[in-house]
Amino acid sequence: MCGIAGVASFHSIGDRLYEGVHHLEYRGYDSCGVAFLNHDHIEVRKDIGTVDEVDGKESIRQLNSFVGIAHTRWATHGKVTKENAHPHLSCRGDFAVVHNGIIANYKALREGLLKAGHRFSSETDTEIIAHLIEQRYTELGDIEAAWVSALTALEGSYALAMISTNDPQRIYCARHEGPLIIGVGSESNYVGSDFNAFIDYTKNCVILEDGEYGIVSKDSFSVKSLRSGEVLDKAITVVPWDPELSRKGGYPHYMLKEIHEQPLAVRNALSIDADEITALADMIAGARRVHLLGVGTTYYVALMGQYLLATLADMDVPAMSSDEFRHLDRSDAHSLVVAISQSGETYDTVMSLRHAKERGAKTAAIVNVVGSSIARMVDRVVLQGSGPEVCVVSTKAALVQMILLTRLALELGARRGTLSATRRRECEEALAALPGEIETLVNEKSGLIRAAAYRHAQVHNWLFLGRGVYYPVALESALKMKEVTYVHAEGMPGGFLKHGTLSLVDDKLYTLVFVPPPSAGELHAMTMSSVEEVKARGGFVFGFTFDASEDIFDESLVLSQTSELTAPFLPLICAQLLAYFTATALKRNVDKPRSLAKSVTVA
Ligand code: F6R
Repeated sequence: MCGIAGVASFHSIGDRLYEGVHHLEYRGYDSCGVAFLNHDHIEVRKDIGTVDEVDGKESIRQLNSFVGIAHTRWATHGKVTKENAHPHLSCRGDFAVVHNGIIANYKALREGLLKAGHRFSSETDTEIIAHLIEQRYTELGDIEAAWVSALTALEGSYALAMISTNDPQRIYCARHEGPLIIGVGSESNYVGSDFNAFIDYTKNCVILEDGEYGIVSKDSFSVKSLRSGEVLDKAITVVPWDPELSRKGGYPHYMLKEIHEQPLAVRNALSIDADEITALADMIAGARRVHLLGVGTTYYVALMGQYLLATLADMDVPAMSSDEFRHLDRSDAHSLVVAISQSGETYDTVMSLRHAKERGAKTAAIVNVVGSSIARMVDRVVLQGSGPEVCVVSTKAALVQMILLTRLALELGARRGTLSATRRRECEEALAALPGEIETLVNEKSGLIRAAAYRHAQVHNWLFLGRGVYYPVALESALKMKEVTYVHAEGMPGGFLKHGTLSLVDDKLYTLVFVPPPSAGELHAMTMSSVEEVKARGGFVFGFTFDASEDIFDESLVLSQTSELTAPFLPLICAQLLAYFTATALKRNVDKPRSLAKSVTVA
């Protein structure tokens, strides 16, 4: 879950290395560093802290070199220390590597290297790679042969970049189960763990696949097969994102910016060609068994999809969390697994798809990042086109995924006769009205939600309750609250409460209830009975409600009436804002909360 950047250029690279790794900070930010060719030796500048903090101490931007690599770290092996920060050097200091992933056999390799006389200065699995390459170089006398030989010995996952005094003009890079991309610029070429490493300078890139490695210099690059050494003819992919979209644009945090971008993101999702949705619906209709897959927020999105497909299309499509999928997967050649992922790189989801493929299942995905691993590995991908989501916590990407699943459920409902043509049209009109409703909501309710967040910022425990399609809303909202504020919030179906959790209710446990509009009938009545249960035990209840006349709550936020189809999305957005403002009240690091990275590429 770290970030890798590298530049080989005709021009001095300090600024670009700094910017590259700065734009990747959402992938990890406990320490960072750079390695670059300084005349006849490699110089490493690294420390713990953010990129700006390390730049302040180590003057990354001022470094004078034409070839270098950089890394921002999210610790997996070894504590957060200067020694464990990347890049890592070999014993003689003639090889420097940065790495993303986990080397599974590093202990065995370390033993062998210790016996061969190598000495290590960190606790990381990465450092062994630098020593291993040096060892193989001593044995083989050729840098590319040493690189290939070392890669072949590695087990586990990696995205890697390496520089060496033995080939000072070039960067070597490779991937296995971790993303690595070459940026093709003019008078400079780049490597990155994603586009953000170089998007200010070029939109042209070449995406490495597992089993491939690249050699990049200031005016050329080549990609070869690790197995055969053959040069591969790789296509150039053009990144469709505007770099401006990756900037904060006047907002204090990306999270708030991305919450405000939701009307546009939903409009874009609604304008995705109907053929894309139809083709995915064809796959679902043609499969005997279908699973929706995601993890963290995207699991909750998948669960939302399960409710939508059940209620709109009368289909039984279970959602599964991809961290558990392998233990339950019974898919076969008649199965379809539909993964949902913002980054398209999440390890658990990639592995689940791989597992399902091995069992013969078909695969599809809804993904935000173009050219990501998941986008490329599935039989069919729907690119959600939400633009870059920079804040580590997902807001607009998750909402758009829900909108696309709604479109899918409408298509399948129409085909299966569970939705009349009139009802489908009404639903589509409701979806078309949603961007405007979100705009109004964010404009009109932000102040009220901010005041509530500051009022309740000291609450230590929240219960978030919802029933039916509001249940995944409650789960996702609780996750938002936890991850960005570090305040405990537990999402739960209203009906679950009386099976144990009611015993926790007192005046200190606050409950947020996601109340459907009264037109939802039974679902509304059942939700209100959960409210009564909490009130009866002296609990404080905050209601997100569509009915101003409901006066049972200790506090409420009354939302404007909307269609039953789109109603759940409005309190979801209110909960995003509640989490955001609670985090600012508590002075949290909103865009980079602790212990969370944007794409979780480790097991
Ligand atoms: C929550 C969050 C994580 C991700 C999860 C899946 O705000 O960011 O829970 O949703 O790690 O990531 P993707 O969607 O990139 O597969």
